[in-house]
Amino acid sequence: MKAAVLGYLKERRPDYVSGEEICRSLDISRTSVWKYVSALRSEGYEIEARSRLGYRLVGTPDLLLPDEVVSGLDTLFCGQVYHHHLSLSSTNSTAQELARSGAPEGTVVLAEEQTGGRGRLSRAWISPRGGLWFSVVLRPNVLPMRAPEITFLAAVACVQALERYPGLDAGIKWPNDLVWRDRKLGGILTELSGEFDRINHVVLGIGINVNLGLDDFPSGLRSVTTSVSAITGFPVSRRRLLRELLISLEHWYRIWLTGGFSPVVEAWKRFHCWLDRPVRVVNVEGEWTGTAVGIDDDGALLLRTDDGLTKRIIAGDVLLRDGEQA
Ligand code: BTN
Repeated sequence: MKAAVLGYLKERRPDYVSGEEICRSLDISRTSVWKYVSALRSEGYEIEARSRLGYRLVGTPDLLLPDEVVSGLDTLFCGQVYHHHLSLSSTNSTAQELARSGAPEGTVVLAEEQTGGRGRLSRAWISPRGGLWFSVVLRPNVLPMRAPEITFLAAVACVQALERYPGLDAGIKWPNDLVWRDRKLGGILTELSGEFDRINHVVLGIGINVNLGLDDFPSGLRSVTTSVSAITGFPVSRRRLLRELLISLEHWYRIWLTGGFSPVVEAWKRFHCWLDRPVRVVNVEGEWTGTAVGIDDDGALLLRTDDGLTKRIIAGDVLLRDGEQA
């Protein structure tokens, strides 16, 4: 009902709407209207109340509150259950707990800031206010060995949502970095809970530097990081971007479930950055130099090594050989 009161105020914005009209059309008492208005105010909505005129919405908080994100969201399951937090250690950790206690597929956990955000290989992920830091619970009925494919479909979904903004032609650095002009714009961390032959759940964590300035990052990262607002030159609506990301994720997840990995790989290839550039690849087994020449049908990186052989890399970090590095 709180959402309905908010919807009413939004619809009439910037005009006043009388308390009596809200009571009548939503079939609630005046006390209830007042209760919902107070609840909305405590979430940060600015609502003016004037005797004889009624209520007027004058400001919405820059927070990704459930009423802002979920109402009218055009997805079947992705984001339909939505948990919003001002601050969390890591949305992936909270999503794992929810998933273990039975959260349905598509449940989203979002935090305005993370105090212990995680990246790949247990690296810290800087997550102050202004970014998009969220995780999605997925329950695909596929073998656990296919879980890494989710990272690829998520990367495609993200760059396609981003490319709707002028100038935001992001690429993907193998396997899962969202990159713009060699600088890191976002990342994806997929965590699996399962048995040998069965997935219990997957938590897909996505971090995108949206309305952040370079001073939000430690000095050591400033030359290799960027943000959506730094690229477009103005702050963008995180609400709109989040909703587009959720729609795009569901779209690609469903393509993957029904059509397998090959449509994802084909789409991924269009965004492969650092193709044909001299790179160094590092993983626990060693280090190789060469040129990235593509990805294989299973997502492995194809590296043409300096001695002319083509090596398949299934895990690792790719670094540019000529200095600057995302
Ligand atoms: C990487 O590039 O290393 C992956 C970064 C993933 C960051 C996101 S932010 C939301 C979610 N919660 C986390 O703790 N990590 C992921």
